[in-house]
Amino acid sequence: MENAKRRIISTEPIDEEEKSDESLRPKFLADYIGQEKLRAKIKIYIEAAKQRGEALDHVLLYGPPGLGKTTLAGIIANEMGTNLKITSGPAIEKPGDVAAILNNLRPGDVLFIDEIHRLPRQVEEVLYPAMEDFAIDIVIGKGATGKSIRLELPKFTLIGATTRAGMLSAPLRDRFGVVDRLEYYTVDELKRIILRSAHVLNIDIDDEAADDIARRSRGTPRLANRLLKRVRDFAEVKYEGRVTKEVTDFALKLLNIDEYGLDPVDRQILTAMIEKFNGGPVGIETIAVSVGEDPATIEDVYEPYLIQTGFMKRTPRGREVTELAYTHLGLN
Ligand code: ADE
Repeated sequence: MENAKRRIISTEPIDEEEKSDESLRPKFLADYIGQEKLRAKIKIYIEAAKQRGEALDHVLLYGPPGLGKTTLAGIIANEMGTNLKITSGPAIEKPGDVAAILNNLRPGDVLFIDEIHRLPRQVEEVLYPAMEDFAIDIVIGKGATGKSIRLELPKFTLIGATTRAGMLSAPLRDRFGVVDRLEYYTVDELKRIILRSAHVLNIDIDDEAADDIARRSRGTPRLANRLLKRVRDFAEVKYEGRVTKEVTDFALKLLNIDEYGLDPVDRQILTAMIEKFNGGPVGIETIAVSVGEDPATIEDVYEPYLIQTGFMKRTPRGREVTELAYTHLGLN
């Protein structure tokens, strides 16, 4: 399809930050940095589907937030030359909502459902035949006179995103042909993303400063780009526009982000575990209560990075902090 005719439709309002993120998202696989293995696989799946003239198989992407699930969905639609329709689990309340979305799809379209684990059960049930047979069953009328009619759908690709694949019901998970995990990015990959974003946004940045932001972005491009924009503000107001290591040091200190990328909540979690629970083992619910956060947020957002960087570990009896947490926080 012609580029100009391609549409991105979102069922939800897009906020200002998402809008400015839009310009930083790579549009094609060739511009996508990181996730090397996943990218190589997706490249092949796309080529194969295109050769057969078919829609790509349904894809489930899971992993911590901010690693590029929506970006990849957009890239897949662009590479396939089709439209992308974006919605999310919580936005679809009734079977009728999803039936309307499905009924409006065109052949080959990509339907992206973020937070797919939050779909209501009755909505999931509409998706099963839609994914498997490209059809939905609609019940007309009630009781004894009601009858079910089958509505054929065009062949489409569903891309589901979730923070944990384990949160999906088994029947839904089993209907995805491709299930893959997004990993945290390396410092080097994040640095390349930061330099690319700086170029797109016309920001003058030192190599050393890009490296510093990369180290403090918790392996997450969304955070790297957010920090880059905040640091730019400091550079413009206090340092004549150029982003140097001096600027990143100054800005990140004020933003309370340390040299490992830990933010105040990360440090609060570790401190609470050490001071109140002797370093663990302690359960996720207990940690959540002691820092006043939602347990799911701790589990999906904070804990994976603390484990990845070696500040915390999971044991059969609960979470424990490591030696590194004590030394980093200067606690005994
Ligand atoms: N911007 C955000 N994520 C990116 C990625 N993976 N590659 C390039 N630019 C990005």
